[in-house]
Amino acid sequence: MSRTRTALLASMALVAGASGTALAVHSATAATAAAACTVDYKVQNQWNTGFTAAVTVTNNGAAKSSWSLKWAYAGNQKVTSGWNAKISQSGTAVTAANESYNATLGTGGSVSFGFQASYSGTNAVPATFTLDGVTCNVDGGGTTDPTDPPTDPTDPPTDPSGRVDNPYAGAKVYVNPEWSAHAAAEPGGSRISNQPTGVWLDRIAAINGVNGGMGLRAHLDEALKQKGSGELVVQFVIYDLPGRDCAALASNGELGPTELDRYKEEFIDPIAAIMADPKYAGLRIVNTIEVDSLPNLVTNAGGTNTSTPRCETMKQNQNYVKGVGYALNKLGAISNVYNYIDAGHHGWIGWDSNFTPTAKVIYEAANAEGATVDDVAGVIVNTANYSALKENNFSISSTVNGQSVRQSKWVDWNQYVDELSFAQAFRQELVKTGFRSGIGALIDTSRNGWGGSARPAGPGPTTSVDAYVDGGRYDRRIHPGNWCNQSGAGLGERPQASPASGIDAYVWMKPPGESDGASKAIDNDEGKGFDRMCDPTYTGNVLNGNNMSGALPNAPLSGKWFSAQFQELMKNAYPPLS
Ligand code: BGC
Repeated sequence: MSRTRTALLASMALVAGASGTALAVHSATAATAAAACTVDYKVQNQWNTGFTAAVTVTNNGAAKSSWSLKWAYAGNQKVTSGWNAKISQSGTAVTAANESYNATLGTGGSVSFGFQASYSGTNAVPATFTLDGVTCNVDGGGTTDPTDPPTDPTDPPTDPSGRVDNPYAGAKVYVNPEWSAHAAAEPGGSRISNQPTGVWLDRIAAINGVNGGMGLRAHLDEALKQKGSGELVVQFVIYDLPGRDCAALASNGELGPTELDRYKEEFIDPIAAIMADPKYAGLRIVNTIEVDSLPNLVTNAGGTNTSTPRCETMKQNQNYVKGVGYALNKLGAISNVYNYIDAGHHGWIGWDSNFTPTAKVIYEAANAEGATVDDVAGVIVNTANYSALKENNFSISSTVNGQSVRQSKWVDWNQYVDELSFAQAFRQELVKTGFRSGIGALIDTSRNGWGGSARPAGPGPTTSVDAYVDGGRYDRRIHPGNWCNQSGAGLGERPQASPASGIDAYVWMKPPGESDGASKAIDNDEGKGFDRMCDPTYTGNVLNGNNMSGALPNAPLSGKWFSAQFQELMKNAYPPLS
């Protein structure tokens, strides 16, 4: 445990961080402490025509000597057999009643049962459960019929069929003219200045444009021009959660840990209002949702050895989970919006102890504040991080003299050695957790190229597992927990659609040339702190195994143009620039 914890860490990739909630991560819907009962409904296995599900009911009310749980399906699911409850179905309405051996349910007690069912089309998790007539997973409970329509009629239902499976397929991607101008002004920069990059909405003021720069409408108007008569994806990063960047300092944000209402009203609502303008309905709007935040709740809160007080706060107040849920719900209500939730990267979430819990907290957020899995197009990994896309010289199953590469210092018992294998597996884990089988993954390849003269030409020597891995790995970082302006890094794969199974696109979500963090303290009004992981003289901490930071010197604040980094990325690009 301590071994994996040390490395895991946190390599928080980057930039951001937000926090999340302490909610029971297994609730199918956001349960609150005051709910009379909570129901965890989990689809365990799903195939074309059927599925199995596990249901756990917790009674927070008075003790019961018998119980009956009811729900209704939105689709044509039909329960065919059950265990540990007597299950009957009439039309879409299902009743699960106790068996004689599990009839008593004390206050705070739980009971679990399972069943198999058939279905076709989509297999949505039921929206409402009632235990003996009382609605579960809802503050205070209530006595509604589970077949009642959703309680908030102002929330338009999301129609997943209005979206294409992969928004990048057959589409051009928006070139941000502001980034493009920076890139083109650099010597050699015109080789990449026509590449698409993400537009970061990293503060409330960014919606209207900071210092005379382009705001959201200006970008969308320009996107309409670039679109012409074809399809166009325009990429935004939604990045302003309360208490943002709780495990690092470089991208702390403007909103304090409790400012959830400001996040909703001053940030998400205005963004949603603009994106919903019918004028933009022909664009495919991709949103990266809140980099680093939910992963931070898994590794850097809850009493782990990498916990930080700020992440503990965000886990306790639940404002990361609520904020992400709110953003998904509001933005997901717009039928041409595609939301991709940030899921860290393999050198952070790849360990078993982090992998499944991260999928669960993402699922929890996708069911918080009115959101559903239909508001989620997929996940993005490696945002602003440096993890290699594919380590060709070894894989997770390689051994050297009978020792697994997992035992090497570099891999450190991780289950993954690169981003592509991680992204594909994590996408599947999400589907197992309850997301739609059609979700996709994006991989940020803006700084994970690792070309240049130091790139190994073949596998390392087989003298030891460390020599083998260190000699063969493309990722030349001093430690995989290093994340800031890495020396030796290069541009990765150029942005492209459908590059591999399960992957919707390689993207440059964090624009190359924009700093990951300042190398020294710099006064600013953005809430950004000084994280010593961006200081090349720093000798490290538990998050990077007490190694040097590997950062380039003289970096400006995160997000500011950093010419030396841009040049480094071009110099070490892989594939190389021609
Ligand atoms: C910063 C943001 C910036 C983004 C893109 C992040 O590290 O915190 O302010 O917009 O990078 O450069």
